[in-house]
Amino acid sequence: MTVGRYIVFEGSEACGKSTHSVRLADALGAVLTRETGGTPVGRRLREILHDTTVTNLSPRAEALMTAADRAQHIHEVVRPALVSGKHVVSDRSVYSALAYQGYGRGQDVGHVRRLNEWAVDGVWPELVLLLDAAPEVVERRLKGRTLDRFEQEGAEFHRAVRAGFHQMAADEPQRWVIIDADQPVERVAAAIRDAVRQRLGL
Ligand code: TMP
Repeated sequence: MTVGRYIVFEGSEACGKSTHSVRLADALGAVLTRETGGTPVGRRLREILHDTTVTNLSPRAEALMTAADRAQHIHEVVRPALVSGKHVVSDRSVYSALAYQGYGRGQDVGHVRRLNEWAVDGVWPELVLLLDAAPEVVERRLKGRTLDRFEQEGAEFHRAVRAGFHQMAADEPQRWVIIDADQPVERVAAAIRDAVRQRLGL
């Protein structure tokens, strides 16, 4: 069976994930997708998750909703594409749940991982490209924008999320590549292409 490669971007808000997901998917002829909101059901979940008028969502409910988005996404988009031999490039993945719902919200990361193990049903990203930007850079890029429910969280939350990404990258260096996102867009794009070539031979 020919199987495609599953490549994901991770990082904070406004770090350039969307731009670089589009570019990489285009370069590889891959299926371009995203979490949350990569399916019609996921888009409805995403609306709730981002809604700033939702002020009392429990951290467990939030974790379950992101896991539900993911389970549907893997079922409807990711697995079928990989099985048909297509590569998949996704803007965020299961690692966002570990970083945001685990490290960020301070829930037991082992619990969040087990919940998501069930959700992804064996389909884990093969390469994680972490677009890393310092909190000041993110703050600067978000200035003047209408912020969603996650972006509105304070600096402490975002520092914990970033530290979580770094911890996971350190734990599994063969799966992760950290790319400095605070560089001109062409430099970031070149670093991404190098990493994909070196790690996956694509
Ligand atoms: P984005 O798609 O514009 O990056 O926004 C998605 C937001 O949702 C971002 O703040 C991270 C958050 N998120 C989680 O908290 N858990 C998840 O599992 C995923 C995929 C995203």
